[in-house]
Amino acid sequence: MTASDAIVRLRQLRLERGERAVLRGIDLDIARGSVVALFGPSGSGKSTLLSALTGELAPAAGSVEVLGQPVPSAGRALLELRKGLGVLLQGNGLLTDLTAAENVALPLRMHTDLPAPVIERLVAMKLHAVGLRAAADAYPRELSGGMARRVALARALALDPPLMIYDEPLTGLDPIACGVVMSLVRRLNDTLGLTSIVVTHHVHETLPVTDHAVVIADGGIVFSGTPAELQGSTDPLVRQFLDGQPDGPIPFDSRGAGANRQDAA
Ligand SMILES: Nc1ncnc2c1ncn2[C@@H]1O[C@H](COP(=O)(O)OP(=O)(O)O)[C@@H](O)[C@H]1O
Ligand SMILES: [Mg+2]
Repeated sequence: MTASDAIVRLRQLRLERGERAVLRGIDLDIARGSVVALFGPSGSGKSTLLSALTGELAPAAGSVEVLGQPVPSAGRALLELRKGLGVLLQGNGLLTDLTAAENVALPLRMHTDLPAPVIERLVAMKLHAVGLRAAADAYPRELSGGMARRVALARALALDPPLMIYDEPLTGLDPIACGVVMSLVRRLNDTLGLTSIVVTHHVHETLPVTDHAVVIADGGIVFSGTPAELQGSTDPLVRQFLDGQPDGPIPFDSRGAGANRQDAA
């Protein structure tokens, strides 16, 4: 991959929470135009890694480049960079007293001076892109979980960001809605010319629409390759994660693998 192909470049990245290193020595390039899945057990640092991309968490060491520039630590430069990031965090973050259309309009109202009729038009286009034009006037409580997730997706797309970041976009959705949301992620990525990073533990729903898979565990990247390579991996950490074994080499909670084994018994 040449430098210009990478929309995200991490070099010897170390991220800490409190005094503790959550991730260390992370080297990763994310190719422009790709859909990349980031897997790993709960607490392995997936959300922490995303927070380094959005500039919420500064590196303790190493470097983070997003959209061709080092992520600024604060100020106007950081706000500008964030306009280029479409972020869908866990849960929808939809405002319950606003309609779907009003939710999607929020970033446009906040970050642009566009006249109301233009915003209305853009909102209709974004809702159309996620297949929900007819739901424009519905309130979040009137929508199914999958529909609400798609509204949140439309809102994340509002400013036409080149890079989409999804943190657990399938949590709480039934298998059919999971499929709908993941194929939408792929289709939007390709039709709008985006790059997408999807953090999830839904391996089987995600792999079919993924170009590249990364698994983090034990504070580092334990796998980086194609979905086919992931499925063929014999690495014990990777297998444990893929096969959902309760007591492999990865401790599943902070009390360690031994405590976890007792829970399972
Ligand atoms: N804001 C925070 N302050 C302190 N520790 C945190 C914070 N966020 C996450 N952590 C810790 O960092 C580790 C990684 O968390 P996280 O990135 O949320 O994992 P994942 O998203 O993979 O489940 C966990 O041990 C978690 O307890
Ligand atoms: Mg997380």
